[in-house]
Amino acid sequence: MIRLGVVGYGNRINNLIRDSFREQEPSLRVVGVVDPDEAGARARLAESDREGVRFYRNLPDMVRRGKLDALAIGTRCNRHATYAVQAAKYDLPLFLEKPVAVSMRQALALERAFEKSRCPVVVSFPLRISPLCELAHQYMAAGAVGRPDHVLAVNYVPYGTVYWETVYRDYQIVQGLFIQKATHDFDYLHYLMGSPIVRVAAVATVGKIFGGNYKSPGTRCSTCREADDCPESPRNRKRHQSGRTADHFCVFGKDAGTPEAGMNEDSSSALLEFASGAHGVYTQVFYTRRDAATRGATISGYDGTLSFDWYKNELRRVRHHEPFTDTVAAGEGLSHFGGDVELARDFIRVIKKKSKPRTTIWMGIQSIYACLAAKKSIETGEFVKVRQVGKAL
Ligand SMILES: NC(=O)c1ccc[n+]([C@@H]2O[C@H](COP(=O)([O-])OP(=O)(O)OC[C@H]3O[C@@H](n4cnc5c(N)ncnc54)[C@H](O)[C@@H]3O)[C@@H](O)[C@H]2O)c1
Repeated sequence: MIRLGVVGYGNRINNLIRDSFREQEPSLRVVGVVDPDEAGARARLAESDREGVRFYRNLPDMVRRGKLDALAIGTRCNRHATYAVQAAKYDLPLFLEKPVAVSMRQALALERAFEKSRCPVVVSFPLRISPLCELAHQYMAAGAVGRPDHVLAVNYVPYGTVYWETVYRDYQIVQGLFIQKATHDFDYLHYLMGSPIVRVAAVATVGKIFGGNYKSPGTRCSTCREADDCPESPRNRKRHQSGRTADHFCVFGKDAGTPEAGMNEDSSSALLEFASGAHGVYTQVFYTRRDAATRGATISGYDGTLSFDWYKNELRRVRHHEPFTDTVAAGEGLSHFGGDVELARDFIRVIKKKSKPRTTIWMGIQSIYACLAAKKSIETGEFVKVRQVGKAL
């Protein structure tokens, strides 16, 4: 039996434990939880965990008394680093949600804490280890493009309204969508390009579509007289298959943020320079829906162009100097494109000392340094150098 202690027993970690961790290790039990919302956490817990679980006031207390085999941190974004710094003091395998930090201060504290730590960390980066990305990596390693000199990466999010209609609208917690979303993309781009991002210039469009002065704070569709005509109301989204159909905060409401006070961007783009001298573009759009969904990259070198799209579940290799193009179809229906199963497998194998993490704390920190550079570039209008963690990744 694996005894897991969880800090922040919210929706994401609950889904992972239920659908992926237990699939890999049916004997896993959640035996300790640190979460100020005990009632909410208890309601999410599996029946098999409810009897034996204990709630603790803080992480050190849980580690001291919980007889744990491993830890998981599933709080919202702004608490990951604080708890991870505490966890670094123990040798327990740690599953850490992304983003690993939301500020430079937090990222530096993490770097310091893990420099001398023996705590093995699996960072929750499902895209990097998804089967399609791993296949792309294999193609790259086999010379499909030659030296990768250019990348175009896109992320047209079909469920982007969550960043204005749920708790993710809270900018103080999320700190914008480079940190929240692009941390995955910057990480897999580093992996596939075989080189870290060293310089970023970014722009964002903020407050043009979502947010604004349209509705008073706290307005939800269920209390809104315009729900009949609004394209964002649950019933219209259901009619048009254009998004989540739960009752939600108004995405055009005052409390979705303002550009002055800070709010998530409608779309944002970054020009990236890699240490290898390659460069590329990453762009993310959050108001797209339905068949507009696309996430993936096109990587080119002199010898070829490789592109893949997680939504199409497809990889395409074009040979520049031979008359062949091949397309590979991937399996469908897996959570985070198969990445969650891989994360779960890694975490269980790390706990059993059978392997090392593939998504390490250093990858999490390096990615956040690139995201923080993009955020700073939006503010300053200038290129920003990306701090390097200085560890072999
Ligand atoms: N890796 C991925 O692909 C992926 C996917 C979805 C979400 N996430 C990340 O998962 C995190 C959690 O998201 P969620 O949707 O589950 O949120 P959530 O609100 O459902 O869960 C957060 C939990 O943390 C608890 N909490 C709040 N303050 C706390 C504190 N001080 N100490 C301990 N617990 C505290 C809350 O009560 C709640 O139970 C987010 O940071 C999000 O970015 C990652």
